Amino acid sequence: MSEVVTFSWGRDEASWSIVIHGGAGAVPVEARARHAEGCKLAAIGGGAILRDGGSALDAAQRAVEILEDDPVFNAGTGAALNTSGEIELDAAVMEGALRAGAVCALPPFTNPIKIARAVLAEGSHILYAGPGAEAFAQAHGFVRTTSEAMTTDAARARFLTMQGTNQSSEGWAGGTVGAVARDSSGHVAAATSTGGTFMKRPGRVGDTPILGAGTYADDEAGACSNTGHGEAVMKLCLAKTAIEWLRQDMHPEDAARAAIALLARRANGVGGIILVDRRGRLGLARTTETMSFAAMSSRDTEPSCGS
Ligand code: GLY
Repeated sequence: MSEVVTFSWGRDEASWSIVIHGGAGAVPVEARARHAEGCKLAAIGGGAILRDGGSALDAAQRAVEILEDDPVFNAGTGAALNTSGEIELDAAVMEGALRAGAVCALPPFTNPIKIARAVLAEGSHILYAGPGAEAFAQAHGFVRTTSEAMTTDAARARFLTMQGTNQSSEGWAGGTVGAVARDSSGHVAAATSTGGTFMKRPGRVGDTPILGAGTYADDEAGACSNTGHGEAVMKLCLAKTAIEWLRQDMHPEDAARAAIALLARRANGVGGIILVDRRGRLGLARTTETMSFAAMSSRDTEPSCGS
């Protein structure tokens, strides 16, 4: 079984807190500081909202927007390309009152997490796919862009290297981004966004927009965002599994470790998880070589970060 690596922020409660991941994967040593810095900026953006008394939902969304705009991550600009060389995006937000919004197989839009939030706000449905997601976005004022405009040189180079090889969607989506937060009113929220697995087949949807798999939040328990091998994460409904452990008062550090061990043992999957519980305590675990992260709470003056 892959080794489970964890990070601890201590086991104390906090009136507000946020933890962010920049995706489970194998970031080269020379790029790790840059990925950690990107997460740190997202934690500062989300943390400022919480410090000012804002909502966990606004904080988690803001953190993910910052990471979508950062081209080093596999979400928004810089997203993975599918076998057709196109970008298809998945994103979800959920708040602890069990309101949620998600999009999947979305054609290129700069910030899919904002569209997921609009789905939550509009409230008729929870998950829109492909052309329906595009129609919803356009009806709510979002402007479609192009795969070319959102494709980085690094993503194009990787596509060209992998084209014609058999490496593909069986791997995990390094660089998926996510955030979970607890606000000073005691509410929790989760947000996750991804370009999915590199060289996935068109139409493939991973765990990210599936409530209970990649993303979940419940004020009576906590919030979760996953990254890694989406097919494996979905088989285990991993976010909901971890949330049920929080409901039973397992500390998020222990729940994170147990969830990622379960992913490896039961579904042969690799990945990472971030958790916040209803008391503002944090947890993080991964089996991949790296998972950049940052966190901040009411006890901190600045974020901690790493990869
Ligand atoms: N975990 C992201 C994906 O598999 O698409």
